[in-house]
Amino acid sequence: LVNPKNLHEYQALPHALLGVSSAGIIEWIEPDVPDSSVLQDVLVKHGYTSVEDVKIVELRRGEFLLPGFIDTHTHAPQFPNTGIGQQYELLDWLQNVTFPMEAKFADVAFARDAYKRVVRRVLDSGTTTCCYYGSLHLDATKELANIVNDAGQRAFVGKCNMNRNSPDNYVEASAESSIADTKTLISYINGLTSTSSGPPLVQPILTPRFAISCTSPLLSSLGSLDPSLRVQTHISENPSEVAFTHSLFPACASYTAVYDTHGLLRHNTILAHGVHLTDEELDLIKTREAGISHCPTSNFNLSSGVAPVGSWLDRGIKVGLGTDVSGGFSPSILTAVQHASIASKVVSLNGGGKDKGPFTGRQLTIPALLFLATLGGAQVCDLASTVGSFEPGKAFDALLVNTDESAGNPGLWVAGESSVETRLEQFLFCGDDRNVKEVYVQGRVVGGTAFRARAS
Ligand code: GUN
Ligand code: FE
Repeated sequence: LVNPKNLHEYQALPHALLGVSSAGIIEWIEPDVPDSSVLQDVLVKHGYTSVEDVKIVELRRGEFLLPGFIDTHTHAPQFPNTGIGQQYELLDWLQNVTFPMEAKFADVAFARDAYKRVVRRVLDSGTTTCCYYGSLHLDATKELANIVNDAGQRAFVGKCNMNRNSPDNYVEASAESSIADTKTLISYINGLTSTSSGPPLVQPILTPRFAISCTSPLLSSLGSLDPSLRVQTHISENPSEVAFTHSLFPACASYTAVYDTHGLLRHNTILAHGVHLTDEELDLIKTREAGISHCPTSNFNLSSGVAPVGSWLDRGIKVGLGTDVSGGFSPSILTAVQHASIASKVVSLNGGGKDKGPFTGRQLTIPALLFLATLGGAQVCDLASTVGSFEPGKAFDALLVNTDESAGNPGLWVAGESSVETRLEQFLFCGDDRNVKEVYVQGRVVGGTAFRARAS
């Protein structure tokens, strides 16, 4: 069992036993159960009368449990575009590649087919909690919420608010209609079935696309809705985007101040990218306790820049990882981990700032990368009391990882009797969905190779 603790360390327990209730909540963790001869005693200690009372899942050689990955930023209607458009920077990419694809989601049947594939792919990649942007369409986004709910994934689902600087066939008619559709979607998602314990699996999230595509009245109206609603948006991804934003909001001191002055910068706000944020903006983000979704695959792919994640961590800002499909070309948080590592090395090679704290200007370590992919993401989604690590009282959202040859991934080459630590490191850098054998959300198996084999 591999359990992230903080940015500096994780626990690796080769002989742990973890108890999960029928409601999918972790009840206890026994760190050292050497073999099945002591099983009966351990179970009795936790109030069971016999081994017959429980279903026991025993891991094989090369297998371990990891908390499920948390994708703090992705775009469901952009999946058909993955691998397309890397020649563009952000604003041209939106016009030429992204908006034309998202416009197709006006067709609900098209959306339903696409979203089924999207959610299956994201779950099988090991993402147990996902922050999804839909398109601007209400009906298609209801479908996305239905599909996520039916699949049993934990997620935040929002429809984009965008009422200006967008193509004629892909723009909302007014701030009023945008808000009306948003409220309808919120009620709809809140009415979906909930779990027997803890927060509902699928929750609504406010999704102003970015400042450029929203008028000030639209942003203000969103900011004055229920403050317990989470917010996801983009910030300071690309220099041309930053300049355009300043020109649209000349009265605001910064890009961050645009969201802040409209009531959209708060403890439950997820800001994607943040590559070009200034020190003053980072101070404001820290003060408001908002989180940042680091999307390194996208930041490289759209030539947006290299985010100084270490300096965010040293400031105590909440940080998670995002795939940002299709700015990013992979739906897997494993790819985001790999590119977060490379990005941190680029920052380090460019020098400077190492005196400012343990992370600034240095490469991200394995414990830090694991943290960003799990518990850090949970903090960013304001869900750290429910998921992100294995703790009694949290939901059992987990991956059964198979690093053995039997997984069928020849790229993950574990030599002989390797430790859990070595297997974790090789999985993070060489693993893929073939190594994700079972995906658990709240105790239910909802994805992974073994799940698919049983389903087919
Ligand atoms: N900024 C506004 N919209 C988008 C989007 O769809 N993707 C990315 N990466 N940045 C954006
Ligand atoms: Fe994005």
